[in-house]
Amino acid sequence: MMRMPQPIPYQGSKRNIAKQILSVIPSGIDALIEPFAGSAAISIRAAYMNKARRFHLNDLNKPLMDLLYLIINEPAVIASSYEQLWEKQLGREKAFYNEVRSEFNATGRPDLLLYLLARCVKASVRYNSNGEFNQGPDNRRKGRRPSSMRDEIYAVSRLLKGKTTVTSLDFTSTLDDLNPVSDVIYMDPPYQGTSGGRDSRYFSGIRISTLIDFIVELNAQNAMFILSYDGRKGAKTYGEVLPEDLNLVRIEIEAGRSTQSTLLGKQDITYESLYLSPALIEHLDSSSTGIARFTSWKSSYTQLELAFT
Ligand SMILES: C[S@@+](CC[C@H](N)C(=O)[O-])C[C@H]1O[C@@H](n2cnc3c(N)ncnc32)[C@H](O)[C@@H]1O
Repeated sequence: MMRMPQPIPYQGSKRNIAKQILSVIPSGIDALIEPFAGSAAISIRAAYMNKARRFHLNDLNKPLMDLLYLIINEPAVIASSYEQLWEKQLGREKAFYNEVRSEFNATGRPDLLLYLLARCVKASVRYNSNGEFNQGPDNRRKGRRPSSMRDEIYAVSRLLKGKTTVTSLDFTSTLDDLNPVSDVIYMDPPYQGTSGGRDSRYFSGIRISTLIDFIVELNAQNAMFILSYDGRKGAKTYGEVLPEDLNLVRIEIEAGRSTQSTLLGKQDITYESLYLSPALIEHLDSSSTGIARFTSWKSSYTQLELAFT
């Protein structure tokens, strides 16, 4: 069985819980739309599971989307660029990283971003207030070997080429061609508390009120969507719970033990919430095996709250 490829190391990637998220995405849909695609972990897995015929990847971070475009459509080009950068760094890794970072900040070139992500601390994309990438290198590592990076790139290309649209727009502009009957939207906005302000974990923060207006609009269209939003570690919750009148069903999935808790010998498990739209719930309920199927996917989660409103 093929391993799930992921050429773009990206902090905040949903790769480790992609399997659980995919279990609430129905099979046989037309398009899977990701307005906050990041490293596209969910679409990659969905393509692997043959869940959708088409994919739309969008993220405001343009160099990141340019990189995904190249990985999907020009695998040979981006694999060679990575190899050249990787080889060139040998013997002067730290200085080379800094040169690449300056050049990336001047040009936004996607091949440079791939090298930076492979080499930077915790694959964490950080920008300063001028929008410049300012994360430092992880000096203990040289970054994934070119041969292994090439394999990952080609595997993603095989899964997504010929069926994927890549854009770099604000999330509110991504749904012009939505077909609510046959498409599913997966939204993974920047984490609350870490966007905006001093902690610039993501390219740009978004206003919660804008997100809520967007959800109201999606519900008005009877759209099927899933939203990753808040979560908790042990008893500590982060992120605000969404207003009840959006009529979303909230489930929790276990995202594992946080690295910090493991180091401290604590047992704190991280849970992440998924919010499912009423139209999606209806679709899952009425799918071939009916309520039995709904009950079986429900039971695979640790749930704090599962209420039909
Ligand atoms: C939590 S990450 C998504 C991670 C993704 N699910 C993955 O598996 O890699 C959130 C993403 O939202 C993007 N973003 C921030 N503001 C945005 C906006 N206004 N419109 C679209 N994307 C935005 C960030 O660049 C970031 O990549």
